[in-house]
Amino acid sequence: MNTPDYIRFPGNTRVKYDILYMLLESQGRVFSWDEIAGRTGITVEEAKRNIQSLLDEGFSVITASEAGCTVSEGQDSLSAPGIYSQLRTQVLGRQICYTLTTASTNDDARVLAESCPDGTLVICETQTKGKGRLGRQWESPRGGIFMSLILKPEIQPARIPPLALVAGYATARALERAGLNAVVKWPNDVLVQGRKLAGILCEISAQQGRIQYLIVGIGINANIPAALMPPGVRERSTSVLDQTGKITDRNLLIAGVLNEFEPCYLRFLESGLEDLIPEIEPKLAYVGSPVMIHNAALGSEEIQHGILQGLDSDGSLLLSSSAGEIKRFAAGDLSLRPK
Ligand code: ATP
Ligand code: BTN
Repeated sequence: MNTPDYIRFPGNTRVKYDILYMLLESQGRVFSWDEIAGRTGITVEEAKRNIQSLLDEGFSVITASEAGCTVSEGQDSLSAPGIYSQLRTQVLGRQICYTLTTASTNDDARVLAESCPDGTLVICETQTKGKGRLGRQWESPRGGIFMSLILKPEIQPARIPPLALVAGYATARALERAGLNAVVKWPNDVLVQGRKLAGILCEISAQQGRIQYLIVGIGINANIPAALMPPGVRERSTSVLDQTGKITDRNLLIAGVLNEFEPCYLRFLESGLEDLIPEIEPKLAYVGSPVMIHNAALGSEEIQHGILQGLDSDGSLLLSSSAGEIKRFAAGDLSLRPK
């Protein structure tokens, strides 16, 4: 597997990325070649070569002329400083790895986990092989948010599965702050108006009963019109853009997810899911409604019906049958649908 070259923030050693960040931080301002050279300690010729290299890499938001360089105002560009400046976390997102395009940030995060600290955030503008749960594909066009957190908790691997729910809850809360009425669909989705707006994919690497690292991948349809999704996905999905009619600031939304997730994650590590259930349950989709559950890996033969009651202390879903019996379902390969 080839991991692309990631820009690391802080700790980025390439002057061209320092220039990029400088331009992104002051969108709309034209930096003269002399100023770029002076601020980064290189010659004007080198500054021009670095800008050309950024343009060749695909950073088309940059405009270069004889006068200098600029990134025009209002560009919805992901940028580590843009995220960083809005973070209120202690651990999550304190190191950010950014690249333009890659197969999957979850796959890259697994490689980067060897050399990156706990809480590192891996982000990109587009994925060519975005992964969903159960081997499904995650559509990842430009304008979306594709982020993976590298976590290194010291807890038993068996305690990890409900973490996808916690991440979904944090994402829903961040979306609420952006004005959306988001709910969590067990076990790993975020819905707005019954359509999928975000999904979570947690992957774990453990050896001899110890977690080496955990990857929490979050995909959010931010500035993507759902109409541009392929058939089959478009009917069931939505985006922040579709819901609000406005381009959303992805840096703010990413920081918002991390700001919401960190306290929940720390509480989860400390006392498990149980403590968070009273907060998550009111945001759970379909509570009190008839639903069906089927084993997605086996096909639809094993459909179970019931009224969704809520969550068990380990994150299993509780359904009541018509006879009043309560059944528990652990996530695994199961898929939930409204009836
Ligand atoms: P469940 O988790 O209950 O099985 P699901 O059918 O949504 O729900 P997931 O594995 O959670 O399945 O998500 C992957 C599916 O999401 C894909 O098969 C596709 O139908 C849909 N999907 C893919 N990309 C996107 C996207 N960007 N936005 C919304 N939905 C998407
Ligand atoms: C799902 O709904 O099934 C989970 C979707 C998870 C998508 C995110 S996008 C960032 C990260 N990289 C991936 O390949 N997948 C996750």
